[in-house]
Amino acid sequence: MPSLEKSTSSSSPFTKAHDAVASYPICLVTGGSGYIGSHTVLELLGAGVAVVVLDNLVNSHMESLCRVYRIAEYERKLAGQENVPPLFFHCVDLRDKQAVIDVFAFWQEPTTPSKAKPIDVAEVALRRTYSMKEYNLILSKRPKPLPSTTDPTRHGKVISVVHFAALKAVGESVSKPLEYYENNIGGLLNLLQAMKAHNVKEMVFSSSAVVYGAGKEANISEDAVQVGGKGPGAGLITNPYGRSKWMAEEILNDCCIADAELRVTSLRYFNPTGSHPSGLIGEDPKGTPNNIVPVILQAYQRRRSKVYIFGSGYDTQDGTGVRDYIHVSDLAKGHLAALRKIDPSATPPTVPGLTDSPQQDLPRYNVYNLGTGHGYSVLEILDAFSQACGVEIPFTISGPRTGDLGTVTASTKRAQTELEWEADFGIQDMCRDVYNWAEENPRGYEQLRRFSAAIASQDPEMLRRASIDPQALRKASVSAGLFKSEEDIGKFMKNVARTTRKESAFGEMMRKMSVMFTNESIPEDEREDYEPSGQTVAAPVVPPKWDVFGKTWQTDSIFSSRENPPLIEEPEDQDPLSSH
Ligand code: UD1
Repeated sequence: MPSLEKSTSSSSPFTKAHDAVASYPICLVTGGSGYIGSHTVLELLGAGVAVVVLDNLVNSHMESLCRVYRIAEYERKLAGQENVPPLFFHCVDLRDKQAVIDVFAFWQEPTTPSKAKPIDVAEVALRRTYSMKEYNLILSKRPKPLPSTTDPTRHGKVISVVHFAALKAVGESVSKPLEYYENNIGGLLNLLQAMKAHNVKEMVFSSSAVVYGAGKEANISEDAVQVGGKGPGAGLITNPYGRSKWMAEEILNDCCIADAELRVTSLRYFNPTGSHPSGLIGEDPKGTPNNIVPVILQAYQRRRSKVYIFGSGYDTQDGTGVRDYIHVSDLAKGHLAALRKIDPSATPPTVPGLTDSPQQDLPRYNVYNLGTGHGYSVLEILDAFSQACGVEIPFTISGPRTGDLGTVTASTKRAQTELEWEADFGIQDMCRDVYNWAEENPRGYEQLRRFSAAIASQDPEMLRRASIDPQALRKASVSAGLFKSEEDIGKFMKNVARTTRKESAFGEMMRKMSVMFTNESIPEDEREDYEPSGQTVAAPVVPPKWDVFGKTWQTDSIFSSRENPPLIEEPEDQDPLSSH
């Protein structure tokens, strides 16, 4: 992977990286390769901002950023805009204070040596081939350039931070509170200190409706939980994850009080779902998901037998829980709206007597809900997803989850009036995009990254060797880091086969694999799952055959053999978060 080291030679103080960003303002995005982070990076690039992502990849993949870059390239071309702004990546853990300082030093002090080594995402992305879904790009909805893009005094340096990096599993936070506070609070403190040391004065913080705890339900306004002793605090938050978000808000407010130049906006997300309509980026949760949409998706993919609906006795239209689902692309645009609001390069003041910055009359710490204001029940979500995928999703009603509320929806008034932001996408769009993402990427990024890298490898030598020596390809794939071991190649194919339901997509995959792996042999223990289970339904036409790994596969036998795929853990009837 290309990495750029800072040159310390006095004749050439600027590296290629510094040259690349010289005419752009830089936004540093922590956690930028994650689900919401990657969608936000895309919007930032669209708005003409260079982006530096800092992420430890604990719950994400750099692959997402390669795809973001390619989508940005496509969208900017369609919009008649010039090159995509630079996108760099640092694999850094926020708990590593020195590493965070090094990253800031690299960008803010180009002539001082720094240990940081950014990876130029474009260099990696442009070596890969992706096929994206056609989607309707509404040009009028494209992000408008941020004010700082036309202000040369703000170019070539980090001017703002969007802070996503955090642990976020509610249940896990109950059993591992120290890890949550160390990551979510310790990481924030390191970040704020580095910002202070390098004079970065704008931040948008990824908060959550979890800070409202169990106290409020429909149409929740931001004032339901306030910071700085101004009003109701976060007394009803039921888990360490939620408390870490609220504590972070308090810390940010305190820093704004102490530093008259610092401006921070916290965005309290309701229920983010959906994915970019290109089908290239989306949610790729590690471990067993608890949120409803990933759970529905797994039921669709037959990785769990059904959806357990937690409770049907709530005071809602059908008795199941109602939530305010928001499309992740809308959410991402909310971050741009927040950055726009705190950008001091915004329109100069016209009111006589107002001081230099138009922001000086605003509170320096602000909070906004990001939701749609509309609620959908679990049954409605199931129905919308069934419509998107054309298959009924099996479900059963079980007991309520401890601590769950009937209805949780946002008041969106403040974001509408002050940020001039509101959501565009509806529930059907969210389900369609989740479905498209899953169809194109049945096992998320990692598996597809390996697969697409293998089939779309730009290395002609590897291709040549593959055609004459499949064993060499196996070895090359492992040494290139595409697979951990040679055995993993077979396991990988088996897993993709299990979770790819669309026959045409599977056929295409097999066709590509057959090009790469002709005559490859598959170990005995990995063959079994491809065999028909004995329930093969006679196909009306002869199904296509694919010659892969030295064996001929018929798509109908593969599909019928997947009637009983191994299931991931099923949730208990009662709340798995019982310690809640
Ligand atoms: C969860 C998190 C919250 C986070 C939010 C958005 C918990 C306790 N809270 O809230 O911190 O901010 O996601 O990411 O995890 N449901 C089922 N069956 C399932 C899963 C969920 O019926 O298998 C129901 C729930 O009871 C609820 C709705 O689906 O009515 C949405 O649940 P979920 O996606 O977990 O979101 P929240 O409960 O809103």
